Amino acid sequence: MKNIRNFCIIAHIDHGKSTLADRLLDYTGSVTEREKQNQLLDNMDLERERGITIKSHAIQMDFELNGEQYILNLIDTPGHVDFSYEVSRSIAACEGALLIVDAAQSIQAQTISNLYLALENDLEIIPVLNKVDLPSANPEEVTDDIVDLLGCDPEEVIHASGKTGFGVDNILQAIIDKIPAPSGNPEAPLKALIFDSVYNSYRGIETYFRVIDGSIKKNQRIKFMATGKEYAADEVGTLKLEQVVKKEVKTGDVGYLITGIKAAKEVKVGDTITDFVNPTTDSIDGFEDVKPMVFAGIYPVDTEDYEELRNSMEKLQLNDASLVFQPESSAALGFGFRCGFLGMLHMEIIQERLEREFNMTVITTVPNVSYHAFTNKEPDEVLIVNNPSDLPEPSKLNRVEEPFIKASIVTKSDFVGQVMSLCIEKRGQIINQTYLTTQRVELIFEMPLAEIVFDFYDRLKTVSKGYASFDYAPIGMKESKLVRVDILLNGDSVDALSALLHADNAYTIGKKIVEKLKTLIPRQQFDIPIQAAIGAKIIARETTKALRKDVTAKCYGGDISRKRKLLEKQKKGKKRMRQVGNVEIPQEAFMAVLKLN
Ligand code: GTP
Repeated sequence: MKNIRNFCIIAHIDHGKSTLADRLLDYTGSVTEREKQNQLLDNMDLERERGITIKSHAIQMDFELNGEQYILNLIDTPGHVDFSYEVSRSIAACEGALLIVDAAQSIQAQTISNLYLALENDLEIIPVLNKVDLPSANPEEVTDDIVDLLGCDPEEVIHASGKTGFGVDNILQAIIDKIPAPSGNPEAPLKALIFDSVYNSYRGIETYFRVIDGSIKKNQRIKFMATGKEYAADEVGTLKLEQVVKKEVKTGDVGYLITGIKAAKEVKVGDTITDFVNPTTDSIDGFEDVKPMVFAGIYPVDTEDYEELRNSMEKLQLNDASLVFQPESSAALGFGFRCGFLGMLHMEIIQERLEREFNMTVITTVPNVSYHAFTNKEPDEVLIVNNPSDLPEPSKLNRVEEPFIKASIVTKSDFVGQVMSLCIEKRGQIINQTYLTTQRVELIFEMPLAEIVFDFYDRLKTVSKGYASFDYAPIGMKESKLVRVDILLNGDSVDALSALLHADNAYTIGKKIVEKLKTLIPRQQFDIPIQAAIGAKIIARETTKALRKDVTAKCYGGDISRKRKLLEKQKKGKKRMRQVGNVEIPQEAFMAVLKLN
């Protein structure tokens, strides 16, 4: 146990975690020439394509220093805020963290938020100044920034490059010297923390754990404490690039477990594994169910594909427990599902996986957050509203609460004014402003979550010319003056286009939505009025004018093949369109609300 080191790598997105992890694997000889490829640990296709880490990964390295043999368990964590719960669990499985800071970008919002998470878990922090090979690197200045942030000595900041491998030896030395070996009682009943799970279509769910006390043995009868379920440990082992089957994984070590579980929901990140017969008395605390933050409807483009979509979603859920869904029906779109996601990136990924892995063509509706509504009749009873069209009539409504977040934005001092105006426009309230250095400022805002779902990232990037980073954490529900804005096409309300907006902005945004829809709804043989309404009151109106000519008119009915071709072409264009009443609505229209200028 004294020669085990468990550590994670934390950083802001793109500061080079995965690349540095590759170098550590190279240096310790954990991969053969043949296995080498970039971002070795990001093994999902989507992860590689997008260059982001979606899932956490763990890998064990053997390393010899001064004649001593060490086991180093590295847990790579996702950087994106949608997956921050996984980061927090990975952190809880370690004693130390490499804090990577890009030598050209310096400290960013997630550097700070992940550092705080690590400090809350009492991790030993090893600061690494990465990408020193970059011509635009600013090593002195960024080292000063790190020293200010951590209160460490400049000598403690290790200069490194994931690209060239420079400094990797010093990092390994620091891991061994500074990160404490695991403590824990090998004699106590089994207590292990689940920090991740991975779906494998042949073997079922692989659970990744860190043993806190005792050990986990092959064939042991075990229990997951949060779910209360019992299993047999069919296979246990450690995580090299390939899994290494073991008879036992002992105190302090990290490993995997296969129990024949097929559904991701049975394995909850943060849960405690213990012995069934002789359980530990205290589970690892801090366990929480991951809650979806953003909701949207997913509908098959072709109504006949509903059952197939359900099957696909069920399969996807076996693989990604953070996806939740339930059937819903929409007057406009028919039968589909209301789905909950961790955030917008997660939503995009789910949609993409449905299409790639399951060959579905789907329409997703305007995303929204989850509201709490209180009616006049039952003012104490919370009604959870995940779909704006479920909000009770204004006359019956006592009040509505919406989720708020604490947002942290790090930017250059030149852009403070612009960033502040943006946040205030998004109903934000400034809570704190800290100068990290003379050039860099951290702004803390309280804001409604709904506002960052709608085009916040893009706007932030624009107003700061790319020099702003952003992170957030939920802080609870607060009352807001919200109204439901409905959209009518050709006189019919399209429920899937309804949105809840703050009363003060409803007119302006309603107007922008109809203007945007006018550009997106294809022209047809007749005029299509597009209206926004609050209750019975119309607040904005535009019209998509009728087409002057029938596209097939020119063919006189004589040239059948040409006519058919034209119709074929139209059909193709129809792919992501839904007919609502007699109006065709393209997918982009459902997302119109997200991108208003
Ligand atoms: P996420 O997984 O999305 O959080 O990103 P990450 O922090 O793992 O970053 P990643 O390793 O994917 O690197 C981001 C980009 O920086 C890639 O284009 C790398 O090639 C590049 N990069 C990483 N390390 C270095 C370095 O030391 N020097 C230079 N010049 N580029 C680097």
